[in-house]
Amino acid sequence: MRWAAEAGKRRAPKPALPMPLCMRYMRLGDIPAVVAIDRLSFEPAWNYASYRFELIESQVSHMVVLERQAAPRESARTSWLEKLRGRLNGASASCAVGDILGYGCIWRIADEAHISTIATHPSRRGNGYGEILLAGMVGKALQLGAGYIVLEVRVSNQVAQNLYSKYGFSRYGRRRRYYTNNNEDAWDMRLRLDGVARRRFAQLSERMQARYELADDFSSARHPRRVRMPRDHLAVG
Ligand SMILES: CC(C)(COP(=O)(O)OP(=O)(O)OC[C@H]1O[C@@H](n2cnc3c(N)ncnc32)[C@H](O)[C@@H]1OP(=O)(O)O)[C@@H](O)C(=O)NCCC(=O)NCCS
Repeated sequence: MRWAAEAGKRRAPKPALPMPLCMRYMRLGDIPAVVAIDRLSFEPAWNYASYRFELIESQVSHMVVLERQAAPRESARTSWLEKLRGRLNGASASCAVGDILGYGCIWRIADEAHISTIATHPSRRGNGYGEILLAGMVGKALQLGAGYIVLEVRVSNQVAQNLYSKYGFSRYGRRRRYYTNNNEDAWDMRLRLDGVARRRFAQLSERMQARYELADDFSSARHPRRVRMPRDHLAVG
């Protein structure tokens, strides 16, 4: 995985009340917000073209964003005109348009699911959002039938390692000088998706659902790559 410029330092209290959140497949319109978080999180940062490639060229990539809802989710009382307006603004089946809190990317290659990146906005860290994103990607790996999940993490990035350990990832090997900007080693961490991992995942997900009002349009949704995008969404921004 990528080099994190600065991992979360202080822990903010978890929110006491559920807030409406939506986890969904990333879209082209999300790229500027995602690049902004990326620049604050990684060195070197991925640029617009890298994300555009992941979204519309890559055959293995599944990109996720976590969004705080600006508007209440659609209820049965929402009129068909309001629903249509929401769709035209980019809302998905159960999500309105909101602020991007974080994002992640998982590649499915043969039996392996590879988490290539995950980050939350520095001002939002310590609120459980990274965990929601990781859980979403574990759920996606299960949906895709992967046998295991793998990622690389800097040996000094204790925050991320804690998060992965919570979900049962363990150290599989050490990659010497993996990060070329300062020659730091990486831990290769893996999670075999066996019965134990599935049970642990189910328990953690249940606990998370109780804490947040979360609409999950990612982990068991279909990849939207075939959806045609309007031309102006492709402009480099
Ligand atoms: C790693 C990252 C995604 C975690 O996101 P987050 O939203 O801050 O994490 P959460 O609030 O969901 O915390 C989930 C778990 O992470 C660990 N964690 C989070 N903040 C921590 C901290 N300050 N100290 C120690 N552990 C911490 C804990 O295990 C925590 O679970 P717990 O609350 O049950 O103890 C975030 O810090 C980040 O974007 N870092 C920069 C980019 C990066 O390093 N990405 C990973 C590259 S391998």
